Amino acid sequence: MGAARKYAVIDPDTGKLDRRIFGEQAIYEEEMEKIFGRAWQMIGHDSLVPAVDDFFQTYMGEDPVILTRDGEGRLHALLNMCRHRGNRVVRCDDGNAKRFMCTYHGWTYRNDGTLEHVPGEAEAYYGALDKPSLGLIEARVETYAGIVFATWAKDAPSLEAYLGDARWYLDTVFNRRDGGMQALGPMKWLEPVNWQTLVDNCSDNYHVPTSHLSSARIQTRYLGRPPLSHEDQFASPHEHAFVNGHGVTFRDADDNRPRFVHGMSSETLRLFQEYHDATMPEVERRLGTLRARRVQLGNHSIFPNGILGLRLALPRGALKTEFWHFVLLDRDAPEEIKRAIRIGSQANNGAAGMFEQDDVDNWRQVTLASTSRLGRRHPQDLSMGLGHAGPHPDYPGLVSERYISENNQRLFYRRWEEFMNAESWADISLDPLTARFDGTATMRG
Ligand code: FES
Ligand SMILES: [Fe+2]
Repeated sequence: MGAARKYAVIDPDTGKLDRRIFGEQAIYEEEMEKIFGRAWQMIGHDSLVPAVDDFFQTYMGEDPVILTRDGEGRLHALLNMCRHRGNRVVRCDDGNAKRFMCTYHGWTYRNDGTLEHVPGEAEAYYGALDKPSLGLIEARVETYAGIVFATWAKDAPSLEAYLGDARWYLDTVFNRRDGGMQALGPMKWLEPVNWQTLVDNCSDNYHVPTSHLSSARIQTRYLGRPPLSHEDQFASPHEHAFVNGHGVTFRDADDNRPRFVHGMSSETLRLFQEYHDATMPEVERRLGTLRARRVQLGNHSIFPNGILGLRLALPRGALKTEFWHFVLLDRDAPEEIKRAIRIGSQANNGAAGMFEQDDVDNWRQVTLASTSRLGRRHPQDLSMGLGHAGPHPDYPGLVSERYISENNQRLFYRRWEEFMNAESWADISLDPLTARFDGTATMRG
């Protein structure tokens, strides 16, 4: 049975988008139920909890969640809420503990969520407390190449089906090496922006030569990066694809150049090229020739809020987002490469990052426009590239003819509508897996 269609915020024929979805608290409250209560969400990385009994405090939407590794090495995502009155049973960011004791009355949980000890169980409760039903609330957890995802929805599909063919592209960064990746961080900060503004921005290549003009010029002058212009963007060997609800941009070129990351400069480029060349046989074995040699993931957004490498865009009300930015590194990369990426990432992304500040200024204003009494009557125009995207003979998903397009954004808001109009997962579509995953890499790494 089809769900009632309450939301129609994007007009697929004109690209007009109702900007009230960025500013209305009532819509936001519904997003917390229908999107963040249902979707698989990135919550961390297994390198943040490497040993048994490690834990890391994270979030799903606004709900605090403890990511734990129990004594058997299994991962759990547990709502950080004592089942008695509701205190948080973990107050620190991370650590190692077999048990969590609530500091209100002392109920104590094992790190797999089981309620183990209740003070006065016999005397105060006369032995009548139903302890087995009072464990911490647990989400479903699955991992992809070390990235930990969780969902509250019992009827959600597997993570593999949820990522679908998007994984074909994601593998080119996250599933490249036998040794996997490690996450450093996070750097955390708050911004007065709606969480969707930055997800939208992950597929926005149009803004780069304008918004980042000064930052790019500094990089040209001091780091030797080629100058950036609109003409370069239009002619760029990059593609723009929407795959099973997720936005992807990727480079499509056979020139044996390493993928661009912040941290590359005229000084470090040789190191990156040597690393690229030295690891190519391994990458080719893992991903097959096409993906190893031709396809490099650029930017991406995993619906709803997993973006830009490993970054969580945690909603904090319609008009506020908490950013958690991690640096992700190949675990077995040489120290000089890791150091260059760490420094480059801090200089450009993160609270004091040059590129970040250019972007955040835009996202603030897009958010503010949605609160303007007059402004919100006038939709955003997302008409760029309408009618110029479709299936591609070599690449999965809906691929735009040009790198500069708003196809991914239009489809992101369609996906948002689909979740918001659905009564359950039965009303949410999934594209079949069609990509050929050459090589030995799997969901598990
Ligand atoms: S609220 Fe946790 S023991 Fe009472
Ligand atoms: Fe940007």
